Amino acid sequence: MISDLWYKNAIIYCLSVGTYMDANGDGVGDFRGLARRLDYLHGLGVTAIWLMPFQTSPHRDDGYDVSDYYSVDPRYGTLGDFVDFTHGAKQRGIRVLIDLVVNHTSDQHPWFKEARRDPDSKYRDWYVWSKKKPGHANTGMVFPGVQKTTWTYDDQARAYYFHRFYEFQPDLNTSHPEVQAEILKIMGFWIQLGVCGFRMDAVPFVIGTKGPKVRKPKEQYDMLRSFREFLQWRQGDCIVLAEANVLPETDMEYFGDDGDRMHMMFNFQVNQHLFYALAAADTRPLVKAMKATKPRPATAQWGQFLRNHDELDLGRLTQEQRQTVFRAFGPEESMQLYERGIRRRLAPMLGGDRRRIELAYSLLFTLPGTPVIRYGDELGMGDELSLKERNCARTPMQWSDEPHGGFTKHDKPVYPVISAGPYGFEHVNAAIQRRHPDSLLNWTERIIRMRKEVPEIGWGDFAVIPMRNSAILVMRYDWRNNSVLFVHNFDAEPHEIAFATGAEGEHGDVLVNLLGTEHSKAGDDGKHHLVIEGYGYRWYRVGGLDYLLRRTDIG
Ligand code: GLC
Repeated sequence: MISDLWYKNAIIYCLSVGTYMDANGDGVGDFRGLARRLDYLHGLGVTAIWLMPFQTSPHRDDGYDVSDYYSVDPRYGTLGDFVDFTHGAKQRGIRVLIDLVVNHTSDQHPWFKEARRDPDSKYRDWYVWSKKKPGHANTGMVFPGVQKTTWTYDDQARAYYFHRFYEFQPDLNTSHPEVQAEILKIMGFWIQLGVCGFRMDAVPFVIGTKGPKVRKPKEQYDMLRSFREFLQWRQGDCIVLAEANVLPETDMEYFGDDGDRMHMMFNFQVNQHLFYALAAADTRPLVKAMKATKPRPATAQWGQFLRNHDELDLGRLTQEQRQTVFRAFGPEESMQLYERGIRRRLAPMLGGDRRRIELAYSLLFTLPGTPVIRYGDELGMGDELSLKERNCARTPMQWSDEPHGGFTKHDKPVYPVISAGPYGFEHVNAAIQRRHPDSLLNWTERIIRMRKEVPEIGWGDFAVIPMRNSAILVMRYDWRNNSVLFVHNFDAEPHEIAFATGAEGEHGDVLVNLLGTEHSKAGDDGKHHLVIEGYGYRWYRVGGLDYLLRRTDIG
C-alpha cells in the first residue's frame, strides 16, 4: 500500500472561523485571526483542519444554510484572506478540509429565490416540490421537537417544498444532473483555493431519492464514486470525509467495495457506544461496535471523534443504554436535545475530572482510525447552556485571561465567551495552560506527538484481547512487523489484570511503556500482570524500542 494516503495517519482539528479569533475587531472571528493562530495549531501538532461552513449565509443554522457557495461570508473576511490562510496552513504542512453543505441551500440562495418565483426557471427543478401536501409530511424530521415538518408551503411558488432539516433549508434535488455538475464545480473552486478535501454534510440525504412519493429514500451510491473520481483527477491528495450516521451493514456501500467511494467516514457507531462505555464502565457494546465497523477497504479510514459541534447523538443505543448515558452525562432536560442526544461539551460531561478526560482522549487517539478533535477541547473548555440548541457548545476559543478571553477587542462579541465559573476564560485558557507543564493543553500536545509515532493505529489491523473484566479494554495493533498495545480502565476503581499479548514470537514478553516508566515483563505463565488505576490507561510497544530497526517495508 502506498504510504501517501495522508488521512490514514492524520490528526484532524475541527474549528469554526467565527469563534476562533477576531483580528478585524468587529466581534466575529475571521480568517486573518485564524491565520495568526496557525503557529499555535502547528505547535499542538495537528496535521489537518476541518473548517466549518464560512460561505455567505443568513446564519440561521450557523452557516449550514449557504446562500452563495463561491464566496466567503463578509463577516469572516474576503477570498483573499481565505487564500492567505490556506497558504499559511500549507507552509506549515497543515491540510485544510472544508464543510461541503450541498444537501440543501439557504432559502435566501438566489437559486431558490428564482425557483419559487418562476415555475419555468431552470432552478425550479433544482429543488423538490409537491402541489399537494404529501401524506408523510410530518415524518422524517432531523430536529424533532424543534422542526415540525419536512414539507412547507411556499406562497410564492404555490407549492410545498421538501426540507429534511429546518424550513429555511430547502433540499436540493441532488438527483438532477445539473445539480450534480454544480456540486463538482463547487468542489473544484475550493480546491483551486488551497483546500485538500471536504467534510461532506448529511451524505445519506444527499444521495437519497427525494420527492412527494418517496416514503423510504433509496440511496444512490454511484453518486459517491463520481464525486471521488472528480476529486482524484483534480488533485490526487484530496479526500471526502463523510458525515453519515448509518448502520454498519451499509458502511461498505459508502466506502465502496474497492475503496472507490468515500475516503473517510465518521464512526458514529463507535462514538455512541464509547460514551456508553464511559458511563457504565462496560466495554462490551463498544467492542461489538468496533468489530462491526472493522470491515473496510484498505484505502478507507474511519474518523473517530468524541464530541463535535452537534449534539452527542445517542439514537443508535438501546433505550436502556441511552438512559444510562443521560443519567451519567446529561441528567437535566436542558442538557438534552432532539429527544436523542446531549448538547454539552466533553469536559463538563465528565465532571471536569482530569482522569476521565485523559481516559477519553487516550481512547480517541488509540481507536482504529484517525482522530478528529474539536477546538477548545485541548483546554477542557465548557459550555453555555443558556444558548439555544447546539449553540451552547460553540462559544469562542479561550486564549488568555484578557477581556473576552483574548478572542476579540470588541466590547460585545457576537458569540459570548464563557466567563466566570469553573470553565470561564479567567481560569480555562491557552496562555495559562501553556505555562503549566501538567496542563491539559500540554498533555494533549504530548499525546499527539506520541500518536504520530504510532502509525500502527492508523494503518494496522487491530485485535481486541478478550478480558473477563468488562471494564477493561485491551487492544493490539499489528503493522509491518511491529505491534503496539493499549490498556484502558473505564472503572473508577483500580483493577488487577492479566493478559497475553497474542503477538507472534517472543516479542510479546516485553511491553515498553510509551508514556511512563513502568514497563512490563510477562510472568512464567506467559501473561502480563498489572494493576491499573481507576480510569487508568497505558500505551505500550510490544517487544522493545528497536521497533524501527525491525519494521518491514511491506505488510
Ligand atoms: C449536519 C451538521 C449540522 C447541520 C445539519 C444541516 O448534520 O452537522 O450542524 O445543522 O447538517 O446542514
